[in-house]
Amino acid sequence: MRILLLGNGGREHAIAEAFHRSAHHPELHVLATKVNPGIRTLAKSYEIVKSLSDIDALKAAVKKVKPDFAFVGPDNPIGDGMVDVLEELGVPAVAPKKAPAQLESSKYFTRELLEKHLIPGNPRFRQFTSDAGIMEFLQELGNDYVVKADGLAFGKGVKVSGDHLHSHEQALAFARECLQAHPSVVIEEKLTGVEFSLMAFADGKHLAFMPCVQDHKRAYEGDEGPNTGGMGSYSDVNYSLPFLTQQDLDQAQGISRAVLEAVKEETGQEFKGILYGGFMACKDGVKLIEYNARFGDPEAMNVLPILETDFVELCQAIITGTLDQLEVKFAPKATVCLYVVPEGYPDDSQAGETLIIDKILLEPELWPRSRGSNSVQLFYSSVDEKDGRLVTSGSRSLGVVGVGDSIEAARRQAVEAIKQIQGKIFYRKDIGSAELIQKRIDLMGELRG
Ligand code: AMP
Ligand code: GLY
Repeated sequence: MRILLLGNGGREHAIAEAFHRSAHHPELHVLATKVNPGIRTLAKSYEIVKSLSDIDALKAAVKKVKPDFAFVGPDNPIGDGMVDVLEELGVPAVAPKKAPAQLESSKYFTRELLEKHLIPGNPRFRQFTSDAGIMEFLQELGNDYVVKADGLAFGKGVKVSGDHLHSHEQALAFARECLQAHPSVVIEEKLTGVEFSLMAFADGKHLAFMPCVQDHKRAYEGDEGPNTGGMGSYSDVNYSLPFLTQQDLDQAQGISRAVLEAVKEETGQEFKGILYGGFMACKDGVKLIEYNARFGDPEAMNVLPILETDFVELCQAIITGTLDQLEVKFAPKATVCLYVVPEGYPDDSQAGETLIIDKILLEPELWPRSRGSNSVQLFYSSVDEKDGRLVTSGSRSLGVVGVGDSIEAARRQAVEAIKQIQGKIFYRKDIGSAELIQKRIDLMGELRG
């Protein structure tokens, strides 16, 4: 069995590790834009290309590897239609084709889909293709508005009032900027509540939900500082989160189920792969922030280490549309993923600084890493190798995941593990802490009255 994996971040290392654990012992062949030492160790072949959206490079890799299937990790190759290319070459993929992937690549597509199919969860929103009418709509929304570029924008396409935007004039200026790079801009009501991620395996017809995860976007403790790609995340033993009710979970799942069906109706194509809903628990129920057409990063590092179902079999069920016949199981464990990042991240990230990882973290027999037990896993994200040393690159370096019988136990595992890493680095110690979680519970309590 040969698998072609596209991508080289912490998320893809977690994916590679899940394949590595499979009883089918697949050969892993990787197409990457950069070396990831963790993935490379698990791979039979590892090829570096300029872009994961390069059709010729993909065709050449398929010709060489002859994969049984492909797994596409990041949003850009998915949004650019690499799954369509794979399919033309006869290679099924665990990722959606370009049309259903619009769920992530077009904010307007998703808002409009919910509206048209009467699926709950939308805030008030409107799409603009020029600046005409923007000021009027901002005035209607008052002080709570969000401006979103309608396309993949490397996480730079969304600005929120109070956070990055402080006046309607600033909002209009950003909307104009978006319109220069994208065909349209979406302006919507700013929601108040607590965000969470609910990912599901999708075979086009059925969903198998993963444990809920909460990511932390702000760089510093106490949710202060600039936004990042995500500083860390946690999940709980009961697959829910401490601030969510059963009703919240049911609503979020209901939205995703309805969306899976609506996408097929709208595009004529099934959504296969990972359907990742970014939701917000609000005063009056769950609202949709956005969909992604891939695993979250860091969220993949929370859920994949506790996945008990064979990952190869899971991928095959996604491809054949038989997810309903497979039991998708996760260990009843809490997880905390802490991202270790270079000093100065994200605005003034120190690249080229040596990272030393004690061998106790690297050798499985020294630190029990078996799935299901209290354990730690180390995932490489963005690092470089220089003269045989591991060095920081500009971005998030290492994902360290603790698994335990409670969120606190998992957090302690991760914090202990990070003590085995030396370098000019920092991480958020408060992710998964009782104090921060209580803040979320209190906020939901206040909102719900
Ligand atoms: P997105 O790229 O859509 O995930 O947006 C980035 C971040 O902006 C989200 O994680 C939210 O924190 C925030 N955001 C997006 N849309 C809204 C909204 N309607 N209300 C409040 N916050 C939002
Ligand atoms: N954790 C946020 C994302 O993957 O988009």
